[in-house]
Amino acid sequence: GLPSLSAHRGALLHFSGDPGPDDDATAYQYLEDGLLLIADGRIAACGPAAALLPTLPRDLAVTQHGAQRLLMPGFIDTHIHFPQTDMIASGGRQLLDWLNDYTFPVEARFADLAHARDVASFFVDELMRNGTTTAQVFCSVHAASVDGFFGVVRERGLRMIAGKVLMDRNCPDSVRDTAESGERDTRALIERWHGVDRLAYAITPRFAPTSTEAQLDSAGRIARDHPDVYIHSHLAENHGEIAWVRQLFPWSAGYLDVYERYGLLRERATYAHCLHLSADERRRLGASGACAACSPTSNLYLGSGLFDFDASDAAGLRYALATDVGGGTSFSQLRTMAEAYKVAQMQGQRLPALRAFYLATLGGARALHLQDRIGSFRVGNEADFIVLDWSTTPLMQRRIAATQRLDEKLLALMMLGDDRLVAQTYILGQAVLP
Ligand code: GUN
Ligand code: ZN
Repeated sequence: GLPSLSAHRGALLHFSGDPGPDDDATAYQYLEDGLLLIADGRIAACGPAAALLPTLPRDLAVTQHGAQRLLMPGFIDTHIHFPQTDMIASGGRQLLDWLNDYTFPVEARFADLAHARDVASFFVDELMRNGTTTAQVFCSVHAASVDGFFGVVRERGLRMIAGKVLMDRNCPDSVRDTAESGERDTRALIERWHGVDRLAYAITPRFAPTSTEAQLDSAGRIARDHPDVYIHSHLAENHGEIAWVRQLFPWSAGYLDVYERYGLLRERATYAHCLHLSADERRRLGASGACAACSPTSNLYLGSGLFDFDASDAAGLRYALATDVGGGTSFSQLRTMAEAYKVAQMQGQRLPALRAFYLATLGGARALHLQDRIGSFRVGNEADFIVLDWSTTPLMQRRIAATQRLDEKLLALMMLGDDRLVAQTYILGQAVLP
């Protein structure tokens, strides 16, 4: 039959590359009066409204978003924990105490499929409200948490990456597996979910201190058997954690050695945080094809440290943005960009607004090897996009009206913005917000 067509007119921004520290104008397309044409859930055309409108079928209704609304690809969150939704903003302590006191007790409840589905449903609503259309997600140690999460996101047609946590030591029994059961469950979940509709699996060792060497070895074996599956973990977040890794793995010269020895550094591997690394570790991590998930609201909340943007660029370590909820304190990638900007400032570094918006869209897609499907308005990509309305708060409207410059408008959007700005989220061309 005929493809189902829809058209959206408004201001429009997307990236074809990294604009870098100097706002490279060839890396993005900004149209004050743009038009997005969608056929069967995919981008069919993207360009100036004046050029595209005459080419549309006469009877096609064009959704007019107006000059105060910016259409852009949906945000991509490269690292977030769905079971931690109900303990966000718990604490006042640093990583290891925070895990023991708040995280593990909350995650223990995800052995129950009904509970996992209930929280996943709220979590996904919250992602949609914040304009995040794809995320790479930690579940809990329980296979039911993955079945609950993937079941819910599949029903909603979302592109998501997730996996069961592997954790066989240094944690309560209620959230512990064994090297054998972890491997069995992971292999079964890959068979059940990886490549089904828009879903992909991530092998998810929590971090080195909560896995035995037998478990890390098994994670590496599974990864070798499934080169197209993701690997997702944490690295070098906190000084207490790093000292603990040295004790637990006395043969290692540093934290990165542990993941390297077990074959866990490669393309499609994401390590959250990557704060306290040597220049050589950053270079090796980057050369392996793995990427870092920069999680500023979490790093500031847990007092972990500052992500070094310049050192990562110099080392060729690719990175993208992540909320890391519930260590992170917001589901909003706009809030995350604002905190990333301040983290750069604290080190005398720069994170220009254009680069921040790149990192939250195409940069995230590239980190996850999904740039041929999501992250930009490239023709053929899946039409997951958002509408940001800067008239939703009086201050924002006033500040945006005070400048004509795109970089200044974007900086105001990310410094002042949050979920109130997200007027609509579209998944495969369909509006999902009430
Ligand atoms: N390191 C190991 N587990 C976690 C977690 O759940 N959150 C954060 N921020 N760091 C971790
Ligand atoms: Zn995390």
